[in-house]
Amino acid sequence: MSKTIIISNRLPLQVSIENNDLDVTPSVGGLATGLKSFHKDGDSIWIGWPGLVEEEIPSNLKDEVQKKAKEENCVALHLNSAEIDGFYYGFSNRTIWPLFHYFMEYTESDDDYWRYYKQVNQKYADEILKHYEKGDVIWVHDYQLLLVPNMVREKAPDAIIGFFNHIPFPSYEVFRTLPWRDEVLKGVLGADLIGFHTYDYERHFLSSVSRILRHQVDFNEITLPDRIVKVDSFPMGIDYKKFEQAALDHFESTSADQSELQKRLDHHLEATPDAKMILSIDRLDYTKGIAHRIRAYEYFLDKNPEYIEKVRLVMLAVPSRSNVPQYRRLKREVDELVGRINGKFSTVSWTPIWYFYRSMPFENLIDLYTTCDIALLTPIRDGMNLVAKEYIATRTDKTGVLILSEMAGAAHEMNEALIINPNNFEQVSEALKTAFEMPKEEQIERNKMLQKRLRRYSVEKWAEDFMKSLRSTKENRDSFKSI
Ligand code: ADP
Ligand code: G6P
Repeated sequence: MSKTIIISNRLPLQVSIENNDLDVTPSVGGLATGLKSFHKDGDSIWIGWPGLVEEEIPSNLKDEVQKKAKEENCVALHLNSAEIDGFYYGFSNRTIWPLFHYFMEYTESDDDYWRYYKQVNQKYADEILKHYEKGDVIWVHDYQLLLVPNMVREKAPDAIIGFFNHIPFPSYEVFRTLPWRDEVLKGVLGADLIGFHTYDYERHFLSSVSRILRHQVDFNEITLPDRIVKVDSFPMGIDYKKFEQAALDHFESTSADQSELQKRLDHHLEATPDAKMILSIDRLDYTKGIAHRIRAYEYFLDKNPEYIEKVRLVMLAVPSRSNVPQYRRLKREVDELVGRINGKFSTVSWTPIWYFYRSMPFENLIDLYTTCDIALLTPIRDGMNLVAKEYIATRTDKTGVLILSEMAGAAHEMNEALIINPNNFEQVSEALKTAFEMPKEEQIERNKMLQKRLRRYSVEKWAEDFMKSLRSTKENRDSFKSI
């Protein structure tokens, strides 16, 4: 029976070793959390990196890692420290990630990084080919593996290959600055179907293909000498039922079941019943606009002192890619900003920002989503932003206000949120005031529409649409051959 082979750099499970023992936790990030539901329900295997440095895995534990992965229908592909430096921290996160998010000043062009990127992409392609059987569908994910589709195509010309990019695709004027732009485009074009979160990313990609490689592009189809490649947008959804159910369970749980975090949140609510809590959750990444957000919050408190002691920003940042200098710098900047603003505004009974720098279990995420009155998400650039969707899905009584950056892919589908430009502090500050004063009926009205849409375009529907479209490319290919 044919299966789907999913490939992404990061597996949905993150393995670490403590005291010669394995610790398995869920991976953070939209790709892993979103795709996990599709993988769980279907007949698929998932190839990826479990997050370990190969040389640091004791030999007696290597099989154990593979066993843990297998329990979740995953295959662990190990990376050694040179590959992690050159491929992961190097080309993926010092070249492609900043460039595709329009941070050109952070983008490095290094031949060694490129060499490792090719080498590790080939390693992934070879691993796929070990598992591939005729009739299988191969689904490659994200910017770390842009060369994999063509590497697989070279060895398995008839394979059905899909590629989905979870981050933005930048405009041609930005993409063209990449020294290896031709090779990268040719790599992706090994796929039969290429998917993006939004129509804008799709348009940018098509424009680069037509201007750089000079292929014929008609509407959303690219004609290669031997095949047609289809490009389309598929905005990724969330496992809506999972978040809704988790919120319902949360409200039904007794106080004995409550987490320490929830107790602290409740304590704050009891002490200041007319105060509001603003939530932000992200990986600590410069694309997420975390420093902008804190500065905009300071601007808001400066301009509106009547909100002092009436508001609290609960900010959860998950450690991410801390070997890359910009991430370390951002960590220092955020620490300083939080310290400065808490120092500037705190009173004996109140601190304006609660800052958590760590990953949290799912239950705590639900505590935060369900307790906070406002979600303030201000990315400077973001492929999608699933946190925005998760927040709305957990608001089972339909109250709550989402303030969302127009630079997030999710903003295209979430018009009923308060949409802001994260660089405009005045606008963010005004949105916070509007959120504070928004009548419950209006909140419910807005969230009703958002929930209806999110429920319909869930992650299951996203995967189903992509797969349906991918399978149909096979028929197109057969008819192309017969012309
Ligand atoms: P990105 O993919 O860039 O990290 P998204 O907002 O699309 O951004 O996805 C982030 C995902 O990671 C969400 O599904 C969210 O629930 C999850 N997540 C974020 N912070 C945490 C955390 N502290 N602990 C666990 N999961 C988290
Ligand atoms: C984003 C990317 C994913 C990545 C995730 C976490 O969601 O699109 O590909 O896995 O961030 O980043 P990390 O570098 O920890 O895998």
